[in-house]
Amino acid sequence: MKKDIILLGIESSCDETSAAVVTNGRRVLSNIIATQVKLHAEYGGVVPEIASRKHVELIIPVIDKAIKEAGITLNDVDAISVTYGPGLVGTLLVGISAAKAIAFSLDKPLIAVNHIEGHIAANYISSPELEPPFICLVASGGHSHIVHVKGYRDFAVLGRTRDDAAGEAFDKIARVLGLGYPGGPAIEKEAVSGNPEAFSFPRVKFSDVPYDFSFSGLKTAVINTVHQFEQKRMPVPVADICASFQNAVVDVLVGNTLSAALEYKSNVICIAGGVAANSALRKRMSEKCLKNGISLYYPPVSLCTDNAAMVASAAYFYYIDEKWSANDLNAVPGLKLNENGI
Ligand code: KG4
Ligand code: ZN
Repeated sequence: MKKDIILLGIESSCDETSAAVVTNGRRVLSNIIATQVKLHAEYGGVVPEIASRKHVELIIPVIDKAIKEAGITLNDVDAISVTYGPGLVGTLLVGISAAKAIAFSLDKPLIAVNHIEGHIAANYISSPELEPPFICLVASGGHSHIVHVKGYRDFAVLGRTRDDAAGEAFDKIARVLGLGYPGGPAIEKEAVSGNPEAFSFPRVKFSDVPYDFSFSGLKTAVINTVHQFEQKRMPVPVADICASFQNAVVDVLVGNTLSAALEYKSNVICIAGGVAANSALRKRMSEKCLKNGISLYYPPVSLCTDNAAMVASAAYFYYIDEKWSANDLNAVPGLKLNENGI
């Protein structure tokens, strides 16, 4: 019988310190996530320096816990994988340093993982039968991409945001409305009791690259609406604003992803990243996919937001092709998809 490939994954690109053990890229033995959300909430967003210091404190206990919960020892691991970008340079370096030290001391391969590929790979964990090719919408706090996933390590970016990421827009609007950080879940909760048609916020379309996004105009329009109510000393209709804003974001994300799937004749769509946790997005995407005979996949909420299991899953497809990284691996904060030096 073929031996299981056991990978340790490490993730520290933003405000989640995470370590996981995953076999054969699909089966999670452990996935420990220490979130710093509460720490950053009082600042209304992630403070990079504070995040880096917290990662330093947490990284070894989190790795220890992941190994213990998986019921293995570090020696059982076939390779160490780690996110090396995109993300915050200081926080990335904490995970990378830990991964390098473990790989060097145990003389095991080191595998560098692109965080965006990790988000896509979360779908391989939740849907073990899923194989490329497919179209994937990756929407999180730092990125909004439509990706043609042609193979496990073969990607083409069809569209990307030209300004704010979708999650960033959720976070900024939540801050203006005093709903706290992270904004996505807070806005989703408010939106439940609001009217999605109450305000007609802009949906930007580009004629040159039809799959590109822009959320900054939408964000400004929402913020201006809030200010108008405040200036008139009228109560701000928070639920209606949240529902209308969410409706506009969902319209654009679903519209562009569906157009890409139809043009590229893909009968499979996946969604990934923190914003993929949004139930209005999941519902609308499901309805549109059903109508167009497209199969839709999305990970559970715990695998949509940052976690190390997705990192170990993405790394597996590098491991089997022996795409190791050198021990001088550095953080690449602005890393783009396809820049892994395949
Ligand atoms: O993937 P992620 O954990 O980190 C990045 O790689 O950026 O995504 C975090 C982002 C935040 O902007 C957060 O507000 C958003 O995902 N998010 C959501 C929801 N849950 C998290 N956005 C909309 N609806 C949600 N339920
Ligand atoms: Zn992420």
